[in-house]
Amino acid sequence: MSVSQNKTILIVDDDRMNLRFAEHMLSTTYNVVMANSYEEALDYLSKELPALALLDVHMPGKNGFELLAEIRKMKNCNDLPVVFLTADSDRETEVRVFKEGAQDYIQKPLVPEVVLERIKRILSLRKLQVSLESEVERRTLELEESRHKLQVLSLQVVKTLASTIDAKDRYTNGHSSRVAKYSREIARRVGKPVEFQDEIYFVALLHDIGKIGIPDNILNKNSKLTDEEYETIKQHPSIGVEILKNITGMPNIEIGAHYHHERFDGKGYPEGLAGYAIPEIARIIAVADAYDAMTSRRSYRSALPQSAVRSEILRGRGMQFDPDFADVMLKMIDDDVNYEMRDDGQDY
Ligand SMILES: [Fe+2]
Repeated sequence: MSVSQNKTILIVDDDRMNLRFAEHMLSTTYNVVMANSYEEALDYLSKELPALALLDVHMPGKNGFELLAEIRKMKNCNDLPVVFLTADSDRETEVRVFKEGAQDYIQKPLVPEVVLERIKRILSLRKLQVSLESEVERRTLELEESRHKLQVLSLQVVKTLASTIDAKDRYTNGHSSRVAKYSREIARRVGKPVEFQDEIYFVALLHDIGKIGIPDNILNKNSKLTDEEYETIKQHPSIGVEILKNITGMPNIEIGAHYHHERFDGKGYPEGLAGYAIPEIARIIAVADAYDAMTSRRSYRSALPQSAVRSEILRGRGMQFDPDFADVMLKMIDDDVNYEMRDDGQDY
């Protein structure tokens, strides 16, 4: 039954005269249920949920406050509106009523008009509160849905972009996706939160986007590059930054593109940054990128044997790579007993 349809009022009082009087007062408007002890009230509430409960403060055995504490522990009753009935008029009782979580209290002897008016007001407030809560819930759900849709869309756009880079460089099919996957795994293994893992996945997908600006004949050249051609290739990080700098909705999105060829010893490009001056995301991607380059087939060679890849990562530890992330990669290699972590000709 919805809150607006529920017309049941539970009255708990040890005095049967009081109960009958209250029933008489309320029964024309509400469906009245009476209980004359703590136990009887709890027994009823374990099966039914009234719209409101009127509790006598003083009862033999457990009193109204103890009953309220118990009601608040019950899963279905934790927000049941409760009103105390009391002959006490001291300030202490008044304060305690609200502190313990009751909505109101009504002074005995009961005056029918006052009781009816108070109940009516509390019930309409409750109705308003419930409809507000469901509205907030509905809006939150809507927002969550559109946020999710947007996330899916962003991932699709980024993946499409990444695949255009990989398509242009025909020897590195799936490179961006694999580097993204390995980067995320390194981040996961060093205990980065899921948000960071998702971010690095996106950033790594786009690390080579600048290759779009490099002529195909240089990118796909089988023979050794001339110095001039190599200098052209080295421009891809800066071109990447130019492409990505306008995507303000994703801060850091250009970090991978910009710094993935920096080296821990400072001998990389384009900025020649060293050590921890290189952004952490780029230090992770650099290891993943080098690993994938060695474990992918090229026109002029097949994937390197796993032991050779391992030696190269170890050799670059603290030189080309951040030693901590190189260690994680070494552990990933050691865990990959069947050498499955490499270009298998499939797209990810
Ligand atoms: Fe690159």
